[in-house]
Amino acid sequence: MDVRRATSAELRNAIAPVSHYFGNEPTEENVRRFARVLRPERMHVAEEDGRIVGGASAFEFRFTVPGAIVPAAGVTIVGVLPTHTRRGVLTQLMRAQLDDIHQRGEPIAVLWASEETIYGRFGYGMAALCGEIEIQRVHGKFRSPVDHRGSFRLLSYEEALEVIPPVYARVAAETPGMFARTREWWEARALHDSEARRDGAGELVRVVLERDGEGVAYAIYRLRMDFEAGSSTGEVRVIEAMGVSPEATAGIWRYLLDIDWMERVQAELLPVDHPLFLLLEQPRRMRFRLGDSLWVRLVDVGAALAARTFDSDVVLEVADAFCPWNNARYALDGSKSVEDADIRLDVSDLASVYLGGFTFPQLARAGRVEEIAPGALARADVAFRTDRAPWCPEIF
Ligand SMILES: CC(C)(COP(=O)(O)OP(=O)(O)OC[C@H]1O[C@@H](n2cnc3c(N)ncnc32)[C@H](O)[C@@H]1OP(=O)(O)O)[C@@H](O)C(=O)NCCC(=O)NCCS
Repeated sequence: MDVRRATSAELRNAIAPVSHYFGNEPTEENVRRFARVLRPERMHVAEEDGRIVGGASAFEFRFTVPGAIVPAAGVTIVGVLPTHTRRGVLTQLMRAQLDDIHQRGEPIAVLWASEETIYGRFGYGMAALCGEIEIQRVHGKFRSPVDHRGSFRLLSYEEALEVIPPVYARVAAETPGMFARTREWWEARALHDSEARRDGAGELVRVVLERDGEGVAYAIYRLRMDFEAGSSTGEVRVIEAMGVSPEATAGIWRYLLDIDWMERVQAELLPVDHPLFLLLEQPRRMRFRLGDSLWVRLVDVGAALAARTFDSDVVLEVADAFCPWNNARYALDGSKSVEDADIRLDVSDLASVYLGGFTFPQLARAGRVEEIAPGALARADVAFRTDRAPWCPEIF
């Protein structure tokens, strides 16, 4: 098996293995859209007898971690054809990809895992959770009215391309787990609409909440209209909704929950600390269901720690079987430490607390961290705690 970098002409073949599991060959449109946001030198493929049987690629992100924005590899289109699975092809692809990321100096890699069993062995740790909701509009009342002091405007695709990105950029810059979107990303992905993505619902709708002429919140959604026995049973499918302030966020959700004719509002990929829990009179009615969201790989532990902000210090002894260059003791400023270790843990478990999505006490209760110096877990807990849960509003 030859694992190597792909050429730009091979993009279609690099997508094909994972596309196979979606039940399709990659369409021309899909290939064109990927080509706008994926650099060919970030694609790796596995080839046997002249045929590409596996692939793994990475977007180049500016990614928000607590207190900083870092370059990160956004791992995507990972797949091995069913004719070639369980022969180590993914392992070879991960080897090539992680070595490449390390050489490029990107301190972390992030991904959404199709199954939780795949990436732990390569040093990835589950680093964030997300939730999906479905709420009947009759139960969508807030505890107190929202005073957002703005007005809503539906946007054409062209208007959305100008108005929405600045709002997103403000939220992304202060939310661990989010990444900066380029113009190409907005066109090829976030605002892209096609029949294939509608799943029985309507066209993509874009709305902005503006105050004093400035966008402060937006939502992207679809309506799926239906009637049963003469009464409407429509659904608002929220693709993405966010605001730059508590009032703006509450305002955009009030808008979504107030769309006439619709019976319910459905949304996925929400942060686990979503303000709706404290805004709604009956938050239980959201039927919030949790799942894992981002997985993180600390490719260069020292650089990843140095990038984050910490309030106190503790010496971590990190074990990393797949990327042995990380095996060392670290102070939280990222420097290698000659002091005795306070805490011993695996690199994948450090990844789980890196964005603030899990805590050291949680790791301890699951038996995933060893406290050597008494009180060290409590100090590490203080050091790593963040004021908000990490949130990635989009599967890439
Ligand atoms: C997941 C996938 C890429 C794995 O590829 P692969 O070439 O079979 O993986 P490898 O042979 O390198 O497996 C390495 C190890 O991981 C294990 N493993 C791999 N995929 C696994 C899975 N889905 N569930 C459980 N274990 C898995 C293997 O058993 C092997 O374990 P071992 O080292 O103890 O023998 C492949 O099954 C696939 O394409 N699946 C469908 C698409 C998909 O899920 N892609 C990932 C998108 S995020």
